Amino acid sequence: MTQDQLKTLVGQAALHYIQPGMLVGVGTGSTVNKFIDALATVKHTIAGAVSSSIASTQRLEALGIKVFEATDVEQLDVYVDGADEIDHAGNMIKGGGAALTCEKIVAAQSRQFICIADDSKLVTTLGQFPLPVEVIPMSTQRIVLQFAAIGGVATLRLKNGAPLVTDNGQHILDVTGLQILEPRAFELEVSQWPGVVTVGVFAFQKAHVCLLGTEAGVKTLVF
Ligand code: 5RP
Repeated sequence: MTQDQLKTLVGQAALHYIQPGMLVGVGTGSTVNKFIDALATVKHTIAGAVSSSIASTQRLEALGIKVFEATDVEQLDVYVDGADEIDHAGNMIKGGGAALTCEKIVAAQSRQFICIADDSKLVTTLGQFPLPVEVIPMSTQRIVLQFAAIGGVATLRLKNGAPLVTDNGQHILDVTGLQILEPRAFELEVSQWPGVVTVGVFAFQKAHVCLLGTEAGVKTLVF
């Protein structure tokens, strides 16, 4: 099976967690796009969605799924999103699609986080994937130095030769060279650095369930 087929498989498998009348939190990325396509097949049964990015909102609306503002909703039943890495405890690295801040917000509003990923994303220790960190532009240089002090090499993410600007008007640093042995402590520490909007470690908003696409089918990991 190709990686794309594995993504389709887990995107469809996530429908199992969607019940009639639910408000569904929707993440961002190529795997979530498969979930959105699957969600469209039950769109008349759900109350609607809260989206984590402009890209997902556009896809949801194009398929006729009602999108609510996060501020209009107190709590969501379920949040479905992909990951760049997930460990055996459900901690994740996210933000490859630059939507980490809104993803963390919608995840925090949700009772259950269902991570959908192909099995290349399962790791023992987080940190092989360059860690995305959303930062306020004026803080970039200092945060690069702060990461250097703990062995990380932070690079400003570019798009078409210019700094990528997130949905929130901020920039992204991608950090290599880290081995994140204690995800909660790491998330807590980096989140306090002035200018950090969101660090792409999801340990406080970790997954409750991971639907992992494998050659043998969908494997369900419960954390
Ligand atoms: C976007 C994300 C995505 O969930 C993550 O990058 C995985 O994406 P994909 O499903 O395309 O591999 O965190 O900010």
